Amino acid sequence: MRVLVTGGAGFIGSQVVTALGERGHDAVVFDVRQDPGADVRDPAAVRRALTGVDAVCHQAAMVGLGNGVADAAEYVSHNDLGTAVLLAAMAEAGVRRLVLAGSMVVYGEGRYDCPRHGDVRPGPRAVADLDAGRFEPPCPLCGADLLPGLVGEDAPADPRNVYATTKLAQEHLAAAWARCTGGSAVSLRYHNVYGPGMPRDTPYAGVASFFRSALARARPRASSRTGGSGGTSCTSGTWRRPTWLPWKRRRPRGAHGVQHRQR
Ligand SMILES: NC(=O)c1ccc[n+]([C@@H]2O[C@H](COP(=O)([O-])OP(=O)(O)OC[C@H]3O[C@@H](n4cnc5c(N)ncnc54)[C@H](O)[C@@H]3O)[C@@H](O)[C@H]2O)c1
Ligand SMILES: [Zn+2]
Repeated sequence: MRVLVTGGAGFIGSQVVTALGERGHDAVVFDVRQDPGADVRDPAAVRRALTGVDAVCHQAAMVGLGNGVADAAEYVSHNDLGTAVLLAAMAEAGVRRLVLAGSMVVYGEGRYDCPRHGDVRPGPRAVADLDAGRFEPPCPLCGADLLPGLVGEDAPADPRNVYATTKLAQEHLAAAWARCTGGSAVSLRYHNVYGPGMPRDTPYAGVASFFRSALARARPRASSRTGGSGGTSCTSGTWRRPTWLPWKRRRPRGAHGVQHRQR
């Protein structure tokens, strides 16, 4: 199979390219980092790259939290305009299989249980609480301490920053494309991927990035964040397989599945 991997020179994309190669597939890297002309927002370049392609693994995105809303237009441009251009070109070229690099950021917050109110969804943490070292959100109804729970795939989306909003919009665009074309799209909502080649000292990659960089420098590192609601992180080895699996199964045409892997 010939697979176009957008963002194929990035942290995750390069692993996907390796995994495809190991399985005897032909991976085509499409990434501005490698070639300034390989921009997913450029319809002509995307059209050329799709020649002879059977499936697309769409990893290209502007990642991280950025500067609040200051760079919102850049995020929307790379992530959503880029996805729209890619999907339109796929429709035109008859490419019907897509795996999208989704993110658990679309959930916004974890799930919590209050002893009195059961399942609750706390609002954003207050700056004053964080400054005071109170990292765990209280019950929004009674202020009680909460117990963290697992987030199901059917949890409502609640994107709380520009990046998260663009990741959710990518999924909706992919769903619209699947309905219009009869193609299949799967969004894998990764959470804090870590492993070889991960970016160093970046808050985007979560605390695992800081731990790894400290280990590489042979320095211990303590986390200032406490609490029970650890996110589920996955290693490059763990997610390489789920990124690949959707194409090995038969799916109903037009379905837009969301696979959120938890350990
Ligand atoms: N790393 C994580 O923990 C994590 C978690 C959830 C979701 N994701 C998603 O996984 C995907 C890959 O993330 P990553 O951590 O490997 O990031 P990364 O920055 O290492 O890789 C992204 C790649 O996309 C390329 N790119 C950006 N804009 C482009 C454009 N307009 N045209 C072509 N290429 C472009 C970049 O050059 C880069 O190489 C992203 O879609 C991200 O949202 C990552
Ligand atoms: Zn309560």
